[in-house]
Amino acid sequence: MVHFTDMTYTAKTFNLPALQGISEKQVKVHLALYEGYVKSVNLIMEKIQALKSADAEGNAYIISELRRRFGFEFDGMRMHEYYFEQFEGSQTSLIAGSALEKAVMQKYGDQSLEAHIREVAGSRGSGWVVVYADPSADTLHTVFVNDHEVGQLAGLPILLALDLWEHAYMVDYVPAEKKNYIDAFFTNINWGVVEKRFEATI
Ligand SMILES: [Fe+2]
Repeated sequence: MVHFTDMTYTAKTFNLPALQGISEKQVKVHLALYEGYVKSVNLIMEKIQALKSADAEGNAYIISELRRRFGFEFDGMRMHEYYFEQFEGSQTSLIAGSALEKAVMQKYGDQSLEAHIREVAGSRGSGWVVVYADPSADTLHTVFVNDHEVGQLAGLPILLALDLWEHAYMVDYVPAEKKNYIDAFFTNINWGVVEKRFEATI
């Protein structure tokens, strides 16, 4: 007898302060999109289970397509959790002399992590800037990821996720004002969250 788990994911609630340059309505719209991903992750798991139970062989093609789709929903869920968690608490700066700051200096020299992320964020197109730690090589990587289910660095812990899809800012800004949204992101980010993520990798 095949055993299926009934495990489901629950949308997280984020303890967000009032953000500067990112409106409440923008946050609300974006959180609703996040919750949609969580719902779809659960839906795909449920559908695969139901289709397999009903007729595994007859539904094989549909099941394999749902499995292909899983990464889109899962990464959409998890990336938004990384994103919103970064605004929790209150805005803090990167601590001078911290382990993360040392790693940044080793990788990017005189360029601050914020300046480097801004440089990568200047890439044309929609997507994400993702900063990863690679503990096996004692280094960092900052990557532009177009679609969150494609082009992520396998197994590397995520330190920072900057959502640059239009839905992240279009309530407040038009696409030509993307830079203003990036400014707002850095005005509100709690670097303490990023430091903690890094510390967990060393
Ligand atoms: Fe988003």
